[in-house]
Amino acid sequence: MAIEVIGTGRAIPPQRITNDDLAKRIDTSDEWIRSHTGIGARHIAGDETACSDLALEAAKNALAMAAGADTLTGAEKEAALAEAALTLDLIVLATATGDYPGSPSTACIVQDKLGARNAAAMDVGAACSGFIYSLETAAGLLSINKNRKRALVIGSEILTRVADWTDRGTCVLFGDGAGAVIIEKTGAPSEGPGKRGLLRTILGADGSGAEHLIFRRGGSRSPFKIGETVVKHSCIEMNGQAVYNFAVKTVTDTIGRLLEQEGITIADVARIIPHQANARIVQAAGKRLGIPEEKFFLNIGEYANTSSASIPIAMDELNRKGGLKRSDLLLTIGFGGGLTYGGNLIVW
Ligand code: UT7
Repeated sequence: MAIEVIGTGRAIPPQRITNDDLAKRIDTSDEWIRSHTGIGARHIAGDETACSDLALEAAKNALAMAAGADTLTGAEKEAALAEAALTLDLIVLATATGDYPGSPSTACIVQDKLGARNAAAMDVGAACSGFIYSLETAAGLLSINKNRKRALVIGSEILTRVADWTDRGTCVLFGDGAGAVIIEKTGAPSEGPGKRGLLRTILGADGSGAEHLIFRRGGSRSPFKIGETVVKHSCIEMNGQAVYNFAVKTVTDTIGRLLEQEGITIADVARIIPHQANARIVQAAGKRLGIPEEKFFLNIGEYANTSSASIPIAMDELNRKGGLKRSDLLLTIGFGGGLTYGGNLIVW
């Protein structure tokens, strides 16, 4: 029994803001942002768009691919999507910027709008590692129950709405977007010759670094109070240097452990999709491990850091441009708030 990826999709808001656009509003420059992060632009959701809206669009695109309905249009496509949605047993959605704090989960809103009436739905909170955590969670829930066969796994974020636009050290880093995959339990082997699908996952956390990436206000630790004049919404605070050091170390260690546990070398891996937080993190880890730069797929230049959405967005982009062939071994690697980290090994 294998857990295979049978469809990918993404949703990117149309409004594109370049570094030069930002430099007109805050004290920064294209040169600083590019040289420190590799970011050239980011896409920003319109005021009327919430996390579930991007998640729904990405989910529909992934479902259309899984159902072979990519080329259909209009009512025919809607009918194919409605039918495919009923085949979902589970929706797991990773986000740090859901529609509502606490309840309902954003996954439940997507379940309703998609018409996935047979699917259980829940959110996973693991910040930028959220997609890796969610993929493993969904695979585990499919594996443990013979009646569950198909799951939709989404990473969706509207980070520009929780960015502190007075803090140039963080606000230039983030963008909005969503990515999704459909996974299915199949009769293919997950071990030995011809093995397919999700082979192995490493998940980890170091909660002692919780303060390094935090939304400090608005939760039960520090709720907004009646009568309080709020001068800042609940926004991201980040100790960039601490997260950077954590990221380089965990990316290096986790790639090494995934290869060792699977008994393979980096030469066996076709592509690596890292969390797109900073191109320098990827370059530093790649250098330590002796991995050629071209093995990493990077699209941070166009989308900036979209947290839990960055890996599935990259996966869909690479897949749709023909960069992932059947039987390719794909490695994902992520890190972020919590602090959390993780990686998956997937045979495409
Ligand atoms: O996805 C979640 C995980 N997050 C991450 O992985 C982020 C990890 N951290 C990083 O990527 C990097 O630490 C940053 C990109 C956030 C910062 O890069 P850095 O090289 O560590 O810069 P810095 O914070 O040490 O700042 C260096 C200088 C400072 O000026 P002084 O004090 O040296 O005069 C900053 O004030 O750069 C200045 N600076 C800026 N200048 C122009 C900070 N932000 C900006 C900016 N534009 N946007």
